[in-house]
Amino acid sequence: MIESSPPSIPALRGPVPLSHLFLHSFLSAGHSAVDATCGNGHDTLLLARLVGSGGHVWGFDIQPQAIAETGRRLAEVGLADRVTLLPVGHEELERHITGPVRVVLFNLGYLPGGDRSVVTRPGTTSAALVQSLRLLEAGGILLVTVYPGHSGGTEERDTVESWAAGLDPRAFHCWRMAQNNTAPSAPYLLLIQSAS
Ligand SMILES: C[S@@+](CC[C@H](N)C(=O)[O-])C[C@H]1O[C@@H](n2cnc3c(N)ncnc32)[C@H](O)[C@@H]1O
Repeated sequence: MIESSPPSIPALRGPVPLSHLFLHSFLSAGHSAVDATCGNGHDTLLLARLVGSGGHVWGFDIQPQAIAETGRRLAEVGLADRVTLLPVGHEELERHITGPVRVVLFNLGYLPGGDRSVVTRPGTTSAALVQSLRLLEAGGILLVTVYPGHSGGTEERDTVESWAAGLDPRAFHCWRMAQNNTAPSAPYLLLIQSAS
């Protein structure tokens, strides 16, 4: 059973709906996926829908409030069983997941509606990105929405960019997708596919 299909004409306003298009393309029933930054649970919910009852999702966030909100959102539609929510930092990814997974998703920055001083940070983000690539199955993708606009965001962007630029092109297909007609500080999407 298909539990979620993309809207027929998605509005590509910013990187998040673009990331969702890729999720619809790469994920289907029975797959495994990771939401490395659950936040309010919107992305986790989509992952849970796409992997179906035979798949599984792991969700990470350091803020109890984010884990609670994500759990509430999943329970509301009866999908909590297929998601393991972990109130720990994504830099501990490999302590909790052995893989392989089809998708790892990051939505960097701060929790919308929450404490803006709690943000993803260059050191923990890069540790988690390195682990994510080790967890990916061949052909699987890592999606990262990068927000250079908040305090500390440019340092995080620079760290992510230099790490991605150094990846072996025989092992990874690395894409940077940014809107041309927005400010340089606007969020954008990075996609890294593990070569099959
Ligand atoms: C932009 S929000 C995520 C939005 C979310 N994907 C959604 O659909 O609502 C970023 C989240 O990353 C979380 N975060 C910050 N540092 C983290 C870390 N080291 N590990 C896991 N989550 C972290 C924040 O608590 C925040 O909830």
